[in-house]
Amino acid sequence: MSSHNEQQETWPEQPPDRKEMSRRQFLTYTLGGATAFMGAGAILPMVRFAVDPILHKKGAGEFIKVAETSKINDQPQEFTFELKQQDGWYASTATLTAWIRKDEAGDIYALSPTCKHLGCTVGWNNDKAYPDEYHCPCHGARYTKLGKNLAVAPKPLDQYKIKIENGWVYLGDVVANTEVKKEA
Ligand code: FES
Repeated sequence: MSSHNEQQETWPEQPPDRKEMSRRQFLTYTLGGATAFMGAGAILPMVRFAVDPILHKKGAGEFIKVAETSKINDQPQEFTFELKQQDGWYASTATLTAWIRKDEAGDIYALSPTCKHLGCTVGWNNDKAYPDEYHCPCHGARYTKLGKNLAVAPKPLDQYKIKIENGWVYLGDVVANTEVKKEA
């Protein structure tokens, strides 16, 4: 008899707590996972929509149609064009200028008018004392046709990336001058 009683005490009628906890945990994980999945599905598109303008800065790397190649000759000519920019949520239009010319080999290139001294705007043939040069009215910097710095400015004028397509000149980003090498 005593051994039967002992056995009853050893084997409780209730299922062990461990099994009940597992079921509860399973439900918690399942419901939690499903909720998180649905939440992510709803929120991620909104996050992407909000962040997308920051990730894609528009304007940089694009080429803009600027001038017909037939209008370009060996004299620098000033052309203005507009660049639409999207910086984050801020949209703007910048009016840019380029001095475009055909070199002695017939290749077209375009210089930026921003003086490499302190950023004023240069002009072509605008100083009678120094004909056939770019001149900056702010502190007297001077540059050759290819943009080589002759006085005041520490560097040559920058140039635009260029693309010729179907009789048109397209300009892209401003880059360091490589034309001056032809002058050496
Ligand atoms: S900014 Fe052009 S010379 Fe100073």
